[in-house]
Amino acid sequence: MKTYNIAAIPGDGIGPEVMDGSLKVLAAAQQAFGFALQLTKYEAGAQHYLQTGELWGPELAEQLRGHEAILFGAMGDPAVEPGILERGFILAMRQEFEQAVNLRPVKLYPGVATPIAGLTPERCDLVIVRENTEGAYVGQGSTIHANTEHTVAVQESVNTRAGITRVVEYSFKLAASRRGKLTLCHKKNILIEAGKLWQEVVTQVGARYPQVEVDYVHVDAMCFHLPVAPERFDVVVTDNLFGDIITDLGAVIQGGLGVAASANLNLDGSAPSMFEAIHGSAPDIAGKGWANPVGAILSAAMLLAHLGETQAALAIESAAVHVLGELPVLAGPDMGMDTAGIAEAIALQVSQDFEKVGGHSVMNSLAEVR
Ligand code: NAI
Ligand code: MG
Repeated sequence: MKTYNIAAIPGDGIGPEVMDGSLKVLAAAQQAFGFALQLTKYEAGAQHYLQTGELWGPELAEQLRGHEAILFGAMGDPAVEPGILERGFILAMRQEFEQAVNLRPVKLYPGVATPIAGLTPERCDLVIVRENTEGAYVGQGSTIHANTEHTVAVQESVNTRAGITRVVEYSFKLAASRRGKLTLCHKKNILIEAGKLWQEVVTQVGARYPQVEVDYVHVDAMCFHLPVAPERFDVVVTDNLFGDIITDLGAVIQGGLGVAASANLNLDGSAPSMFEAIHGSAPDIAGKGWANPVGAILSAAMLLAHLGETQAALAIESAAVHVLGELPVLAGPDMGMDTAGIAEAIALQVSQDFEKVGGHSVMNSLAEVR
């Protein structure tokens, strides 16, 4: 039997709750599809930091490197100053493990309520590829004349040809496996230097993919087009900062934080990729059973697809969609089931042969595109 060595980092708040849900569903998928996951849990996050002072470090990095993939819950706590864990753990992992692509499917599943009036699943089926290691998120900059009226804050955005090329290559392959359309999202009329390099790379790489149609949209215009005309997009490639913003917009359109999933992909096999729901630790609802685990469960399915267990991943996706369709609302006390109940319902249905979800599944792409 195929065995995969997986690390699990539950983290804080609802992180451990949605992680439990994912693990239930993964256990059912192992039974149904005949593979085995060897799981190791790691303590990390706000509570761990408050107790030990430890964030991301060489020892943990070394241990995690020994795994084929990482399943991540969420981190954050009001007792820890904002930014410490984001930069000291999450960004540090993405950078050290060269998780170059942040992959965020924006797919409206049937039966899921969207705040966009009249939007139908056929019209909302795209993937955003966010550059995940550079841009404004490199943490470079300086402050001079601090704490005076003359304070100057400089925050740099770093864009390398190599960093851009690897995500653009990936995006073209992804588009070629889907509807064959790639949109570069930037602000190249204002951020001229970075924009020029991004456009140059897209044009160069695009020459090798004549079957992919290439388009460009400014990031501000994207905020207009994405909610009202998502059918215009198949694969959108963008930089780290713009990606952070438009992927949250995408999450709203597809039904919210309870359903949105993501992958942080290392593209050269030098370190494990990491899979997480896009929501945070939601301290306001932690411990109440009000967290929707579907975003986490779909992220776990993406992990399986990445490992090559595509059938199991597709089965989890369709079981999750089936259960989502039964929830009156997607978050909070009125979901009709609690976090554990939703996960159990999905786990029970993983081995049932539902009709696969229509359109393009990112589960197929994850296996095909490397
Ligand atoms: P959040 O995503 O934790 O919560 C935002 C709102 O959505 C809250 O009202 C929450 O109750 C609700 N919500 C989130 N996930 C939900 C789910 N699965 N089901 C139902 N409702 C859900 O974002 P927030 O409140 O800005 O941040 C809380 C903490 O999480 C902070 O410490 C922040 O730094 C951290 N954070 C961590 C992330 C990560 O681990 N990757 C990502 C985003 C935030
Ligand atoms: Mg964000």
